[in-house]
Amino acid sequence: MSDAYGDRGNKDRSIANPDGQGSVMPKVSGKSHAAPGGPFLIGDTMTGGYGKGPDILHACTIAVEKGEIAVIVGPNGAGKSTAMKAVFGMLDVRSGSVRLDGEDITELSPQARVGKGMGFVPQTSNIFTSMTVEENLEMGAFIRKDDYRDTIAQIYDLFPILKDKRNQAAGELSGGQRQQVAVGRALMTKPKVLMLDEPTAGVSPIVMDELFDRIIEVARTGIPILMVEQNARQALEIADKGYVLVQGANAYTGTGKELLADPAVRKSFLGG
Ligand SMILES: Nc1ncnc2c1ncn2[C@@H]1O[C@H](COP(=O)(O)OP(=O)(O)OP(=O)(O)O)[C@@H](O)[C@H]1O
Ligand SMILES: [Mg+2]
Repeated sequence: MSDAYGDRGNKDRSIANPDGQGSVMPKVSGKSHAAPGGPFLIGDTMTGGYGKGPDILHACTIAVEKGEIAVIVGPNGAGKSTAMKAVFGMLDVRSGSVRLDGEDITELSPQARVGKGMGFVPQTSNIFTSMTVEENLEMGAFIRKDDYRDTIAQIYDLFPILKDKRNQAAGELSGGQRQQVAVGRALMTKPKVLMLDEPTAGVSPIVMDELFDRIIEVARTGIPILMVEQNARQALEIADKGYVLVQGANAYTGTGKELLADPAVRKSFLGG
């Protein structure tokens, strides 16, 4: 499937923060190359849980390389969202570390991580439903002091439906359109890396395919993407790297192709 996207994609790389990517042309399929000094973003052997509660993550590692899409799959309650929150600084990591472009950011607040170039779309409550589409995008630009009009224009190019509905309350949009608002909002900070928790939750297969196409386009602008997906098979088809999490730990890790071909993964997580 990923080959089918060979000639597609947004060639305009200006949404990406060029500092994050240098001249590396992103790719969405094929062999993985480790960036010098390790992955661009990594939650490395993270152990931790919520508050004083028990550990949910057990030496869990998730990462994404420059120019790539990494996908995290696994059963409900496996700790996928928890792992994403840990990488974004919303969880106490009791051991392990989080590194962005080689820098240890384990102790930084989520806000500080946004300042460092992380964009995060959480699984729930990821838009302001009573605000208009455009106000949602403007909220996304909260850390920017420069003129963000052209970023909004780029987001409308990526998601044309949002331009049509710019003055409508985001809460009136369909599920797939809301997810576009959420991704658009995260892009407003011009992130160096984008984290998406179930961007296709609750949408039809057709809308899912469209959202995946848009996500691939974003990756092509030079923004590596670390995402959780319930639609495991489809997501692994567009993944350079895949992680299967079970009970807060890494069960299987490989390229998307390797995981799709692994009989044990197929049997337990992909419906055979
Ligand atoms: N805010 C919270 N406080 C305490 N425990 C939590 C909290 N959020 C999640 N958990 C617990 O952490 C474990 C992992 O949940 P998590 O939401 O990370 O799973 P998930 O893999 O994202 O599941 P899903 O596929 O349903 O989204 C579960 O046992 C859950 O009950
Ligand atoms: Mg989740």
